[in-house]
Amino acid sequence: MAVVLDHVVPFGRTLREYERIFDLSRVSLSTPILGVADGPASFNAEWTAQGGQVVSLDPIYELTGAVIEQRFLAVVDGIIQQVEATPDDWVWETHGSPSGLRQQRELALHRFLADYDEGKRTGRYCTGSLPQLPFADRQFGLALCSHFLFLYSAFFDLDFHIQSLMAMLRVAREVQVFPLLTLARQPSPHLDSVLDYFRARPGLTVCLERTAYELQKGGHTRLRLIQI
Ligand SMILES: C[S@@+](CC[C@H](N)C(=O)[O-])C[C@H]1O[C@@H](n2cnc3c(N)ncnc32)[C@H](O)[C@@H]1O
Repeated sequence: MAVVLDHVVPFGRTLREYERIFDLSRVSLSTPILGVADGPASFNAEWTAQGGQVVSLDPIYELTGAVIEQRFLAVVDGIIQQVEATPDDWVWETHGSPSGLRQQRELALHRFLADYDEGKRTGRYCTGSLPQLPFADRQFGLALCSHFLFLYSAFFDLDFHIQSLMAMLRVAREVQVFPLLTLARQPSPHLDSVLDYFRARPGLTVCLERTAYELQKGGHTRLRLIQI
């Protein structure tokens, strides 16, 4: 058992991690991106600083930055202790060690917090929850979901996953999701049914692609849904 959590935690990744998870080198800065469940990731802050177009959606954006920081601080020690207790469950190529992982999560949080109030003012951080998305049809070229769908399969059923992916496909031409493992490092119990459901839909290409990013050992595959 890699990590046990009783709720979805506000742990965020950096742009460098998102780039490797979703191969953003092939994505133009002019592509409008939706980051679903972005939480305290610094993806939005850093992509915007590079001139990219991104909106992030997460229920925690109803909170102030100070409260989001408190929620992070309330869980970080326990998570890092669980990671330290299961060293063989992780690939350390990117972060080096549990303390390196902690530093990256703190770095992401601080970059996010420095950008949060301005991003909220300009509409880059939008409060909302899957499976509803308060955006127009095809408003985005790409919708990304990192470390929420599939990872928390124990808390969200198959119907939630299908409704959420359908909502992302309504608002974006392409959808990408990572990882496809659960917190317990098992393939999500919803994955096969999700793949069957979307492979049966006309006008949609369904791909499983290897990522350059792997932290959970075996967690190296992203799902891509591309509309023709
Ligand atoms: C582990 S964090 C991942 C943050 C970021 N995507 C990353 O990979 O760095 C999971 C996020 O999912 C958000 N979340 C929880 N329920 C949600 C829902 N129904 N719709 C969208 N996001 C949700 C949480 O608030 C949290 O910020």
